[in-house]
Amino acid sequence: MPAHDVLIIGAGLAGQRAALAAAEAGASVAIMSKVHPVRSHSVAAAGGINAAIAIDDDWTEHAYDTVKGSDFLGDQDAIEIMCSEAPGEAMHLEHIGVTFHRNEKGELDLRAFGGASKKRTAYVADITGQAILHVLYEQLMRHEATVDRYEEWFSTSLILDDAGHCTGAVARDIRSGAIEIFNAKSVILCNGGNGQCYKPTTNALICTGDGISQAYRVGAPIMDMEMVQYHPTTLAENGFLITEGARGEGAHLLNADGERFMENYAPNKMELASRDVVSRAEQTEINEGRGVGPDGQGIYLDITVVPRKRVLEALREIVNIGRDFAGTDITREPIMIRPGQHYIMGGVKTDVDGRTPIPGLYAAGEVACVSVHGGNRLGANSLLDTLIFGRRSGEHAAARGTDMAMPKAPVSRLREDTTAIEEIMGRPREGRRVSEIKDELGTTMNEYVAVYRDEAGLTKALEIVRRLQEESAKAYIDDGGRVFNQDVLAALEVGYMLDCAEATIVSAIERKESRGAQFRLDYPERDDEEWLKHINVTRGEDGEPAITYSDVTITQWQPEVRKY
Ligand code: FUM
Repeated sequence: MPAHDVLIIGAGLAGQRAALAAAEAGASVAIMSKVHPVRSHSVAAAGGINAAIAIDDDWTEHAYDTVKGSDFLGDQDAIEIMCSEAPGEAMHLEHIGVTFHRNEKGELDLRAFGGASKKRTAYVADITGQAILHVLYEQLMRHEATVDRYEEWFSTSLILDDAGHCTGAVARDIRSGAIEIFNAKSVILCNGGNGQCYKPTTNALICTGDGISQAYRVGAPIMDMEMVQYHPTTLAENGFLITEGARGEGAHLLNADGERFMENYAPNKMELASRDVVSRAEQTEINEGRGVGPDGQGIYLDITVVPRKRVLEALREIVNIGRDFAGTDITREPIMIRPGQHYIMGGVKTDVDGRTPIPGLYAAGEVACVSVHGGNRLGANSLLDTLIFGRRSGEHAAARGTDMAMPKAPVSRLREDTTAIEEIMGRPREGRRVSEIKDELGTTMNEYVAVYRDEAGLTKALEIVRRLQEESAKAYIDDGGRVFNQDVLAALEVGYMLDCAEATIVSAIERKESRGAQFRLDYPERDDEEWLKHINVTRGEDGEPAITYSDVTITQWQPEVRKY
């Protein structure tokens, strides 16, 4: 049985940064991922990473922009940590080899991004996540003596001992179908969000809420789950991300009348207002009949106003995406986009060192809710979140293990997961396929739990999700083999997604106000008196979600009316 001081599940930026920090602190580390680490979803992060490194900037301005962006739901102590540590983290990346773009003077270049009062986003063209991910992976390989990589292993459940401490996980080797116990003094969940609950989404197929659901199933609270970010510019045809970097470089949003409509919604920041504001503005234009395209469901993003040379240099990935997936040369004509699911602000509740209320269980990155994003995340703050809280979790978990004996779960702990997998593989091929359930979940969430919500739609979505939960318990798969059986993983993943969707909807029903990404047509105002608080969901004894509240930490910025 593998045994390590720190087991990290998920190998995107949060996971790799945590692994590096834990290894540098002297811990023995296992990093496990259901895909090869450089195929983690962090690879899709495009536009950049925020850090107040400009001479005329200060981390407090970054923190204020983040608090305002969060619609005052973000915890300000955590935001202060993230923003004050950002410049050091960006410099660390630079020093280990990330090729950030430089200006003519040879200094790090910074681009404008949504909701920011200054140019503060360091970038590598529009492949920033990919650039950082590859450099971190190289760094991890330097630590081969103490970091074991379990690539293409799928964690099926977390292990808790009799005292309720997390002591490892059960995982399946996707290549062979073998199942094993991984003992660990601490476990750090870094396995991302649950964007696949939506269809379409900018998220990779792997973003199925595994960590959120597995933590929830062992009793960890999940927080701010109603806060789901719709990115203003996703490709109208299929939901691919068209980076906010395009608007940062000066691109315009136009409605069917050719009007730069953001003037009516955010006259000061225009296209660079916060994402919730821009997505709502676009959806309003579409709903009021000023959308573009054959079905009127699109908006034009006009990048032709940015010099062609600059587009080819700084936005080259979306040049490729436009050409290959929309048949559009973005340097010569506008491209049709619309708001699309991109990110979840919620996740497993943690403190600023990544600790969940379950001893030994940590979380960092999109799977976690610290909460630094509150009701709405600013673009380019997610890479920062993964790195700062990945590192802090890795350091804390390594220190925790120094005087601790290695736990050892009994082999019998394998039985439950093995039986569950065999039961799925043995289901008769009748009724609904797993993939049909996932499809219905995605379209339901995108219809009723999107930019605009109301009680009737949310209630309908909850009914559908509960029916899907019943159906998924019997849904069949086609692959009966052991080797690389992605089908059986899909059956497990759909269960995780349904947990996440249920918590999202229950929280959205509970929050009877509009704040950040949650806009309730039936409660259109923000209500600080009643709702300046986090909603936490835990799994009750009966398996039903139970709601509690926790305070928002305010240090120096009192809530005020948010205008862009
Ligand atoms: O638009 C983007 O480049 C996305 C960045 C982010 O979500 O932080």
